[in-house]
Amino acid sequence: MDPEKLMDLARKAMNDAYAPYSGFKVGAVVLTKSGKVFTGFNIENASYGLSICAEMVAIFKAISEKEDLGAIAIASKSGNSQPCGTCRQVMIEFNPNAEVYYLKNGKLVMTTASQLLPESFNAASLNNS
Ligand code: THU
Repeated sequence: MDPEKLMDLARKAMNDAYAPYSGFKVGAVVLTKSGKVFTGFNIENASYGLSICAEMVAIFKAISEKEDLGAIAIASKSGNSQPCGTCRQVMIEFNPNAEVYYLKNGKLVMTTASQLLPESFNAASLNNS
């Protein structure tokens, strides 16, 4: 799917975000390798630390349906939607080559999970040398 189209779906998902504490709404859309689409938004909690990012909601929905992460688009109200470090680590787990689309000053940036998190800790790191 066209990255701009995926970003439009992320913008739509963003509007439904549950972010009463930060007021910062984020939307994410995963495109799976088989072509399925899974949406997500951030879901906050009065116990702030329990809040979950939009990216993780979308990725875990896809993974729990036994789908493979192909691409993810992330949108925010501010027009800056760089994924946080935790979300980068989650992306790496499921596909280091996943395409990642986010907004920087309102403009679409296209990159990959491994470019966003070089030298990552991953499954291979657990092996004895
Ligand atoms: N947030 C995301 O949904 N994704 C990110 O990558 C960064 C932050 C959410 C978490 C919280 O609900 C709000 O944005 C403010 O940090």
